[in-house]
Amino acid sequence: MKVVEHSVGAILGEEEIEAIRRVISSGQSLAWGPERTAFEEDFRAYCQARHAISVSSCTAALHLCAQVLRLGPGDEVVCTPQSFQSTTLALIARGVRVRFADIDPKTLNIAPDSIEGKINERTKAIYLVHHGGNPADMDPIRKIAAAHDIPVVEDCAHAAGTEYRGQKIGAGDLCCFSFHSLKNMTTLGEGGMLTTNNDEWAAEAGALRTMGVIGETVDRGTDRIGPYAKPDSKVFDHAGISWTQDYAGIEELGTHYRLSAVQAAVGRVQLRKLDGFIATRARVAQLYTEAIAEIPGLRPVKVAEGDKSAWHLYTCFVEPDSGVDRDRFAKYLDNERGVQIILRFWPLHLSAEHRAEGHGFGESPICEKVWFEQQINLPICAAMEDWEIDTVIEALTDGMQECRA
Ligand SMILES: Cc1ncc(COP(=O)(O)O)c(C=O)c1O
Repeated sequence: MKVVEHSVGAILGEEEIEAIRRVISSGQSLAWGPERTAFEEDFRAYCQARHAISVSSCTAALHLCAQVLRLGPGDEVVCTPQSFQSTTLALIARGVRVRFADIDPKTLNIAPDSIEGKINERTKAIYLVHHGGNPADMDPIRKIAAAHDIPVVEDCAHAAGTEYRGQKIGAGDLCCFSFHSLKNMTTLGEGGMLTTNNDEWAAEAGALRTMGVIGETVDRGTDRIGPYAKPDSKVFDHAGISWTQDYAGIEELGTHYRLSAVQAAVGRVQLRKLDGFIATRARVAQLYTEAIAEIPGLRPVKVAEGDKSAWHLYTCFVEPDSGVDRDRFAKYLDNERGVQIILRFWPLHLSAEHRAEGHGFGESPICEKVWFEQQINLPICAAMEDWEIDTVIEALTDGMQECRA
């Protein structure tokens, strides 16, 4: 039996190899070279954002968001329950209370009408994901955020190239992208980007991703350390402010989250190819959607009129009245037809980390019902061949008959 893999991930070719060769032979710093700034400018322009800061992963970008927002104990955020654990890792680490909203069962994105009831005077942000590259319904969400004067943090791990109402995702408060090799574009395995329209957050995130410290400084009144005076030579400048200043208090301590010049060079090539990759994924998605419309009991994911999914994932749903058990159906596709099925994502509030904080079953009932009973993700990637698409569609058609109770 030939297996249809869930995803072969990003596609790299000669142009990427040439970009690597060019950077290595250019003599520029592999860590600090101009390639990184150029990639940031390309990505910023692509999203029409004010700033883009390249980082080592989307998880790193999400950590920087929690830092620039100074989220900590006593603060709360409202968050989608349907996402990967990276969305809330920094929040757990910093003692922030996460209040889980619920999802729209047609899109798996946060349901705007489930947000307001979770907001109180401690709420500092709304966290969401553009699930599978399908844009969340940003207009009502931004309206709620504006009414409470809080920012929206967008987990765009799947959403490079996604469009909401004709505009690329990324020109928002804080938007975090992933270039992990399984995503629609990659910077050689790992990588990410933080985009923002806020000048202050951009400056802070840029400093924090490269060991910056944010805090109030005071003049020491001397440039002596013990018996040693600061020598008058730039050789000693690497000590930064340490000869002359003290911190009155440290607010945020940066870390090392940089992307290398070689990764950035590959990212620039991949970004140029991104719309083409998405168009290929969109064709697969369209063929699935047309086929599913003819299969009783199966429902395709909904992309709103005027929006464009990046089709990182293709989700469909086994209808509750179909008489088909989702688990049996998924097992049939995987075991008997060689169609690799994945379920994304285990409800966040039911993760062991969040259960340790008192979260539990029943908190986001729509998300739970859809995850435990209805959703499956079909294989999709930009390298899919027609025989693979046909195999998936045939297996879906047969499976919905075979698995009917
Ligand atoms: C929704 C979501 N957020 C964040 C991440 C983390 O991305 P990265 O691996 O770049 O840190 C992922 C990774 O799959 C994801 O699916």
